[in-house]
Amino acid sequence: MNTNKKAQGLTEDDRNLGMELIRVTEAAALAGARWMGRGDKEAADKAAVDAMRLMISTCSMDGIVVIGEGGKDDAPMLYDGERVGTGEPPLVDVAVDPVEGTTITARGMPGAIAVIAVASRGAMFDPGPCYYMDKISTGPEAADVIDLEAPAGDNVKKVAKAKGLDVDDVTVIIMDKPRHQGLISEVREAGARIRLITDGDVAASISAATPGTGVDLMLGTGGTPEGVISAAALKCIGGNIIGRLNPQSDKERQEVLDAGYDLSRVIAQDELVGGDAYFAATGITGGDLLEAVKYRKDGATTESLAMRSRTGTVRRITADHNWHKLMKFSGIHYD
Ligand code: FBP
Repeated sequence: MNTNKKAQGLTEDDRNLGMELIRVTEAAALAGARWMGRGDKEAADKAAVDAMRLMISTCSMDGIVVIGEGGKDDAPMLYDGERVGTGEPPLVDVAVDPVEGTTITARGMPGAIAVIAVASRGAMFDPGPCYYMDKISTGPEAADVIDLEAPAGDNVKKVAKAKGLDVDDVTVIIMDKPRHQGLISEVREAGARIRLITDGDVAASISAATPGTGVDLMLGTGGTPEGVISAAALKCIGGNIIGRLNPQSDKERQEVLDAGYDLSRVIAQDELVGGDAYFAATGITGGDLLEAVKYRKDGATTESLAMRSRTGTVRRITADHNWHKLMKFSGIHYD
C-alpha cells in the first residue's frame, strides 16, 4: 500500500482543523458547565475562557482572534487581535465564544454552548463596534429563498414552500426580547409556530439549519459576533444566514457610522465568513442542538459538533472524559 500522502492526492489542506477545535470547546464546556445554575455568569465565562485559552494553544494553526472577549485591556484572555495556536500554517482568523449564553448558563436554562469558528486569514467579517445585527437563517432546503428585506410573513411562506410544508407546520425560533414584539406578532399572523428562547442565537441559527431539531427558521436582532460565528457553522451545513447591522443605541449607531460601516447594506453569508471555514461547538446546558455536560463521580460526558465548509462533513461526537487520567497532566482543573 502506498502511504505517501502526495501520491494519494492528499495535501496539508486535507487535515481537518475542526477535529482539533473540538477539544477546545470540550475544555470550555467542561469548565463552564461547573457553574451551571449557580447564578454567576462572570464566573462561568471566566472558567470557560481560561480552559479554552489553554487548549487553543495546542491547535496547529497561526490564528488571529477577530472575535474574542473584547479589547486587550478589558479582557486579558482571548482578546481581539491576540495570536493563538502553535504558529504553524494555516494562517487563519479565529472567533471564540467560550460561553455563548452566559445568562442561561448561570440560570441553568437550555441552549448554552461553547463555540469556536476558524476561517482563512482575512475572510471573517470584523464586527468592530457593531454589537447588534438583524439576522435571518435557515437550512439547505430553503437557503436560497430567504430575504432579510422582505416581511417576516413572506419569509415564513417561502420557507414552508421550499421545505414542502404547510405554513402552520413551520417553526420559527426567536429570542424573547422587547425589540421583537412586532416580529413575533407578524410571524404569528402568518400562521407559523414560534419557539421563544431568552438567549443564545448561535445555537438557534444552527438548529434552524439542522434537520431533526423541529426548527425551520431563525429571525431577529442579536449580536453581530454571534452572527459571524453562526455563518461559519451554516456555511458548513449548507444553510444560509443573512445579516444587516442594526445598532440599538445612539452611541452604538454613531460609533458604527464613524467606523465607516454601512447600516443599510445586506451582508451575505460569504461576506460574514469567506474561504474555508471550520466550526466546533460543545453543549454546556443542553438543548435542541446538543446535550448538556453530564458529570459523574470520575468524569463527564460531552456532546459536540465539528464541521468543515470545504467538505460539508458534520460530525457529532460524544466524548467520555476520565478525571483520573486527565488530571495527571492537564493544566485545567475539571474535577
Ligand atoms: P452572552 O453569552 O454574552 O450572554 O450572549 C447571549 C446572547 O443571547 C446572544 O446569543 C445574542 O446574540 C445576544 O446575547 C443578544 O443580546 P441581548 O441580550 O443584549 O439582546
